[in-house]
Formats: sequence, structure tokens, C-alpha cells
Amino acid sequence: MQKIVIAIDGTAGSGKTTTCIKLAYLLDYIPVLTGKLYRGISAYLLNKNIEINKIKNILSDLKINYYFENGKPKVLINETDVTPYLEDPEVEKLTSRIAELQEVRNFLFKVQREFVNKKGVVMEGRDIGTVIAPDADIKIFMDADIKIRTERRYKDFLKKGKNISFEEVLKELEERDKRDREREIAPLKKSKDAYFIDTTNKSIDEQVFEILKIVYKKIYKNKEKMRWKIAYFIAYPIFKWLFGMRITGRENVIRKGPCIFASNHVTFWDPPFVGFAVKRESFFLAKIDLFIQNALFAWLIKKFNAIPLRRGAGAVSAYEKAEELLQEGKAVIIFPEGTRSRKGVLLPFKKGAASLACKMKVPIYPIYIKNVLAGPGKWILRRKRLEIKIGKPLLPEKNTKEYVEIFNKKLEEEVKKLSLT
Ligand code: C5P
Repeated sequence: MQKIVIAIDGTAGSGKTTTCIKLAYLLDYIPVLTGKLYRGISAYLLNKNIEINKIKNILSDLKINYYFENGKPKVLINETDVTPYLEDPEVEKLTSRIAELQEVRNFLFKVQREFVNKKGVVMEGRDIGTVIAPDADIKIFMDADIKIRTERRYKDFLKKGKNISFEEVLKELEERDKRDREREIAPLKKSKDAYFIDTTNKSIDEQVFEILKIVYKKIYKNKEKMRWKIAYFIAYPIFKWLFGMRITGRENVIRKGPCIFASNHVTFWDPPFVGFAVKRESFFLAKIDLFIQNALFAWLIKKFNAIPLRRGAGAVSAYEKAEELLQEGKAVIIFPEGTRSRKGVLLPFKKGAASLACKMKVPIYPIYIKNVLAGPGKWILRRKRLEIKIGKPLLPEKNTKEYVEIFNKKLEEEVKKLSLT
């Protein structure tokens, strides 16, 4: 897969750091939090009692080493690990001052450029899209209301046991923003070709997903099969009329790139229902029995992307096939209940779908199909329309046994929530 450079700039507390780390995790990229480099130099100065006006003298001998370990950034300066001090309020204060110095920026320019040249990087800071990587493939600029940003920062400090008041944090942020925006060299500003994201009312997952959508669109170019497009064009209006089909949440669905649609399962109609609802060519796991019973039916569903699923050990190869498809940027439908719930009550979820999402680091959509048992045409008399509810995607954060368990529960809860709306 093509590796690209993603530049994220924005104000302090707008959510850049968390977004950068989560996004890089999903893409298997390196997250470079450039503020940590500036903070590292400040921490080093404070540690060694070096005055800011002496900085010029030491830069030529400074060796900075930045890497990511166990989900956290590490900064070593001349072999000294300065990581524990990076978030100290005194370090933070000094940082925006040393960030104004041309020699510091020149020094760190080279360090940052090395990461850019390697590609497969998500880099966040203040001047990434404008100065460090004007050639970035995707540029993002993030901002949020100052009160919200203060609240986020304040909570962070409290969590870390730092003694600071809300007013102090607000004042510090305002001063830092002003310095960052008004400094002469490499000021914080939105590059013309950057996407703007206002994170005031967004959750971390929502902002990560917004960028992920842009990235997927850039790196996955695959086209949908003609037969799928024709089937959609012809069969969808018929289905819609026959079942009084109503779809909600379609706007949540990404048009390009890998994802899993996890839906409840009641009838054989569910794969086309979900496929039409999400309006994306999707692949689905179908039990091997369906392929044996009726040759014509088996031929038809194969043409429409069924992957035969054997029970037990054979299930592995179907999941391998699903992994391959996701790797190519395709969409896969899975019914986590593992079997049809003929009465329509939601059965406990098996872990397969959640585990696949965690392993492949792809978004998974909770979907609920409602009133399918009313059957075709009945909606006119009984007023029970078939409803397909598509929820917001869940983004996996880890791939451990415990996490898959939690993630699966979350998925099940989200589908349940949709069933109650
Ligand atoms: O992002 P973070 O809060 O860690 O950044 C700390 C400070 O480092 C910023 O307020 C800014 O003054 C400086 N900085 C910078 N250019 C960057 C990243 C950070 O000037 N690319």
C-alpha cells in the first residue's frame, strides 16, 4: 500500500496529539509529535541550568533522539531521557519562547525532515503543512473553542497530579496561542490547501475518522464491480418498495477503504439489505450449506461476493480471505451473532468480527436491521417498514485478547442501542 505523509497543525489543546497517535496506529504509520522535540530542548535547558541566550552555543553538539514506544513518545537529548519532564508547566512556558528562535527551528527542521522523507508518517505541530512538509500528501488544520481546549488541558493536568487552576491554564493557553500565531518565523497558520477541522463538539474518534476518510480516499483507488452497480440500480428500488425500506446513518459510511459492517442477522435477505443500505460493494461470509444446497443460488451469491464459511477449523480460511479483502481496501459484512436469530431477538455476539477489526485495524460499523420479519409487502397493511440503521464506526485501539473482548461488548451494545431507537 502506498505510504503517505499527513501533516496536522493547530492550536494547543485542539486534540492534535491524540488524533495523531490514533490515526498513526490505524495506518501503521509513525506518529511524530513535533511539540515534544521543542519541549525536549526546553526540558534539557532547565535540567542543565542553561540560560536561553546560551542556546546557540550548545545546539551544534545536541543529539536528539525521538521514537515511539508502547504507545508513548520518548525523547532523548544527548543520551539524557527528558521524557518525564515534557509536560511540566515550566517546560511548557519556556517552549514557546525557544520555539521563536530561528536557530532552534533550523536545527529541528532537519530532524523533522528525516521523518518526512521516510514517508508513512503522521506529523503534528504548528508549521508542518507550511514549513516542514509543504509537500505533505494530506494537510489538516485543527482548532476548537478556547474554553473547551482549556477544559481538556486542565483535566490532563489534574490527571497527572499537577497543581494548577483553570484560570491559569486559560491564561497560559491564550498567551501560547498568541505567541505561536504572531511570531515572525514559522507562525501557526492554516496552509491554503489544508482541511479545517473544528473539534469543539467532536469526540476523538469522530475527528480521527474524519481524517481517516480523507486518507482512505487518497490511498485506495479500487473501483466497484459493474454487476454490483447494476444490481444496486435495479434491485434497490424494488427492495425499497417491497419492504418499505428506510435507511438511517448512510452518511456515516466511507466510500473508499477497508471497513467491516457488523449487523444482526434474521433472514437470508440480510446481505443484500446491508449492501444496499451502505451503498457499497461488500463481501460477506456465508455458511457453506448455502453453497451445497442449491447450485444456482450458490452461483448467484458467489457472483455477489459471498465467501464460503465452513464451521470449525474451516472458518479460518474464510477469515483469511476477509483479511485479504480488507487489506485491498474492500468492505466486508459480518453477522457477529454467528447464526440467524429467527425470532429477531439479538443473540450474544461472537468475537470474530471485533477480533478481525482489531487485527486489521479497520473501522467497524454497528448495524441493526429492524422489522425484517414483517416480510415483503406487509408494510403497506401493517405499517411496519423495514428499517436499516447504520451507526457511527468504532475504531479499534489495540489488538490484545482483553481489548478484543471489550471491543466486542462495545459493538454489541451499539447494535443494541440502534435496535432501541
Ligand atoms: O504541541 P505542543 O503543545 O507539545 O507544543 C509545545 C510548543 O512547541 C507550542 O506551543 C509551540 O510554541 C512549539 N511548537 C512549534 N512548532 C511545532 C510544534 C510545537 O513552535 N511544530
